[in-house]
Amino acid sequence: MATMRISIARHGANPLRPASGNGNFTYFRPGVAQPSKWHQHRSLSTSTSTSPSPAGPPIKSPVIFSGIQPTGVPHLGNYLGALREWVKLQDSAEEGTKLLFSIVDLHALTVPQDAKQLRTWRREAFATLLAVGLDPKRSTIFYQSSVPAHTELMWILSTVASMGYLSRMTQWKSKLQLPEDASLEDSEARAQLRLGLFSYPVLQAADILIHRATHVPVGEDQRQHLEFSRYTANSFNHLYGDIFPTPEALISPAKRVMSLKEPNNKMSKSHADPKSRILLTDSANEIKKKVKVALTDSEPKISYDPTNRPGVSNLIEILSHFEGVTCQEIASEYETASLRSLKEHVGSRIADSLAGIRERYLGIMDDKSGYLDSVAREGGEVAQASADLTMRKVKKAMGLA
Ligand code: AMP
Ligand code: TRP
Repeated sequence: MATMRISIARHGANPLRPASGNGNFTYFRPGVAQPSKWHQHRSLSTSTSTSPSPAGPPIKSPVIFSGIQPTGVPHLGNYLGALREWVKLQDSAEEGTKLLFSIVDLHALTVPQDAKQLRTWRREAFATLLAVGLDPKRSTIFYQSSVPAHTELMWILSTVASMGYLSRMTQWKSKLQLPEDASLEDSEARAQLRLGLFSYPVLQAADILIHRATHVPVGEDQRQHLEFSRYTANSFNHLYGDIFPTPEALISPAKRVMSLKEPNNKMSKSHADPKSRILLTDSANEIKKKVKVALTDSEPKISYDPTNRPGVSNLIEILSHFEGVTCQEIASEYETASLRSLKEHVGSRIADSLAGIRERYLGIMDDKSGYLDSVAREGGEVAQASADLTMRKVKKAMGLA
């Protein structure tokens, strides 16, 4: 079996700190698999001096916000595309950086949910955030529905949000399985579309803006939603004064982890085949089995070619995110090895990397002391206080106070 020669890169640099004075924010080692920088950063420091922003008020300290829907146990795509990045940001954040992470349960309601199932998924998602390493002493972790100001601000933002913009966005179309060029004029779209699904991005903008977040770490699929949030912040500021910073998307280097069964589609919680995704709670055996039966092709050699060989390229990408080496390096290391040995290595690497998370997750779910609920309660209180500060400013600016 081929083994990796290349040493594991440390992914520890703080993306909020300029790299050696050039104003850029180098995050991953240059040349590593995916783009080596967080995208779209503007110069930002966590010192008390204020730095200018393209729009919105001056920023004193970074505020990091992100969310995940409780629509199933988080999977490897969620982990590499979001959760692992949240923990890195938390662990490398300077004093004064505010970090908030939310289980966005109100967003989950934009497609029909079974109440009992949703109750379970909320807890499971919360336990997963703790298990991956979010520390309640450092980060505020809370259920979105426990902070009513999120929905209050959503109403206010809906008075400035553009219907035209919302109608062009892709998520409501993909959730309804309509073509990308579907429009509100289509009778099928009108019959199926609910207001909540259509206005989903307005609630997302409210999640971000209610905490006056400056940075939002997400996977690539959220880029459009982040653009909408930026636009909404600017529209509001234009009418009522500089209240909201323009939030920056921090797109994870693992932009899109693909399904193990349909490698042209992203790994998702909703795909019918459970073998298409690796859950953070899967046992080592389950992980290895899923990787073993991942859809690849029958070409004799191993190569990295996402267009023509999406299955094997996805496995190489996943490995590169764990080992911190480029996909090309992995491909040449394995060029003459069998697909089986690559799959064995990928399966073991994922299983080893997720073992601690699974163990902590099981411990938290087993705990009878009420730990999870108390973290959620306290997180909700801190988030409510943060949201109240913004709502006071918003109401004052709008003549509501
Ligand atoms: P969701 O499960 O849709 O609430 O997504 C939570 C976070 O995980 C978001 O930041 C997504 O961009 C990210 N994410 C979800 N699926 C993937 C994937 N397959 N690859 C990379 N990131 C993902
Ligand atoms: N729409 C995001 C997703 O599906 C979840 C989300 C809701 C979110 N509110 C947010 C992400 C605010 C970042 C910031 O993944």
